[in-house]
Order: sequence, then structure tokens, then C-alpha cells
Amino acid sequence: MADIAYINNGFIPMEQASISINDRGYMFADGVYEVICTRNGRPFLLSEHFQRMERSAEGVNIPLPPSYSDWPTIIDEGIKRSGHQETMIYIQLTRGIMPRHHNYPEPLEPQLVMTFRPRPQYDETFFTQGQQAITVEEMRWNRCYLKTIALLPNILMKQKAHRRKCQEAFFISEKQEIHEACAANIFLVKDKIISTPKLNNYILPGISRQYIIDQARETGLTVSCRICLLDELFAADEIFITSTTMDAMPIVKVDDRQIGDGIPGPITRKVRGLFPA
Ligand code: PDD
Repeated sequence: MADIAYINNGFIPMEQASISINDRGYMFADGVYEVICTRNGRPFLLSEHFQRMERSAEGVNIPLPPSYSDWPTIIDEGIKRSGHQETMIYIQLTRGIMPRHHNYPEPLEPQLVMTFRPRPQYDETFFTQGQQAITVEEMRWNRCYLKTIALLPNILMKQKAHRRKCQEAFFISEKQEIHEACAANIFLVKDKIISTPKLNNYILPGISRQYIIDQARETGLTVSCRICLLDELFAADEIFITSTTMDAMPIVKVDDRQIGDGIPGPITRKVRGLFPA
């Protein structure tokens, strides 16, 4: 088992992988990315992740490289070569390598990097006891629906949360609307109805979010995608957050205020069970 990277059309051990300091990802955070995990050794919801990558790349005018049609094969090969039981695949596409100028020449040659590492494992107590979150003011740009590598507000607020022993920070608008967490989407449960903020410019269309909405509805649960307000967060019976690496994680306290009974609720447990093992 070994962490490996794919750069410049070839695989290389992670510790030998390097990239030019003139890469615009390094200089400007000028790029887009995806995070995909395997389940039973196979990439989960791959085509959904690819579709979002296409939208993100188009949204920031980075053309997909000619290798794009080979990505599924590259990913299969990377999973095999790294040999992890379950793999987390990170794909980063930047605007390319060139001397630092804000503007860039066109046509351009985007730079692709993929990494293959073990899928993150969370302590089971995260799910049995639940986690805490803080709320923070929305401070990001108005194209959060694109999955770009420019994540400074997200990392600063996530760190603020971690310093307070919390798992996440929830971005809240001036109008008190709930947007999303630093690296996850947010769901509330009240009177057995699941609600999640409806997509807008400040919400990444999470692949796990959509999967949960579809699967929960199929099992007969009611899911409403609508504007959700901060007050509803504190009045919720249950809160959970979703992402590719966590599935659905219960949040039992927000800003030190207990949510519901203060323990992970039955709907959160049910939703978590909707993901394949
Ligand atoms: N992040 N919102 C934001 C801002 C995110 O960064 C993520 C995931 C999500 C959930 O999306 P998905 O269900 O497609 O993983 C929502 C990834 C995991 C990351 O940056 O590592």
C-alpha cells in the first residue's frame, strides 16, 4: 500500500511528486478540484463528480485537458497501484504553469494532478455521540457552486471551529439564511421532515447532498429543499452534515446550544444507513 500521485501523464510515489512553483494553483489558487471516495473498491458516484468537475472548469474558463476521456482508466489504475482498501481520489485541475501574471495567455494548457490516498476513517464516536458546530458570517464570493481550490475563508473558519473543539462552521448570510458548512452541506430535521437549504450561489451542489435527497425520498422520507433560517437550526430536532468523506455526520450542538435531545437522532441514523457500506 502506498500513497501515489498522477502528474504529467504518469504515476509517481507521493513523496517524489512535485510541481512547478509557477503552477497557477500554487500562485493564485487558480484551479478546480474534486474529491471522490471508493466503496467496495469502486469510485462512488463517479459520473456525478465528473459532471460537477465539468461545470466547475467551465465556470472558471479552464478547458478540460485531452486526457479527460481517460480519467476513468487513470483512476482505476491509481486505485490498483495504491492498493488501499478504500481510496480517496483527489483531482486538481489548474490553469497551468506560466510566469505570474494575473491575466493568462489563451489557449492554455491546464495542469492535472491526481492523488490516491486512503479514504479518511472517522472515530465511530463521531457518529454515536455527534459533533458540534459554530456559526460564522458568510464571507465568500458569490460562486460557491463552483468547486474551486480557492478556499481561504473555508479553511480559516474550519480552523476557528476546530480551536473551539467543533467539527464545522456554518456560513450564515446577512439575511440569517443557512448556506453550508466549510466542507459539507447542512440538513435539519423537524417533526420528521428533512430540510436542506435550496441551492443558491453560496452552496456547493454536494454529491452526497443530492444522493441523500434522492435516497431518503425513495425510502418514503419527506425532504424539502428551501430557504432555511438560523432560528430553525436551533429549533431543529436533529442536524446532520454530508460530504463525500463523512457521509452523514450528526451535529448535536451549535454555538454551544444543544440541538434536540443532544444526541444523534433516528432520522440521522437512518440517513447514514442509506450509504452503501
Ligand atoms: N468538500 N460544501 C463544500 C464547501 C465542500 O467543500 C464539500 C465537500 C461539500 C460536500 O460535497 P460532496 O458531498 O460532493 O463531497 C459541500 C470536499 C470533501 C473537500 O473539500 O475535501
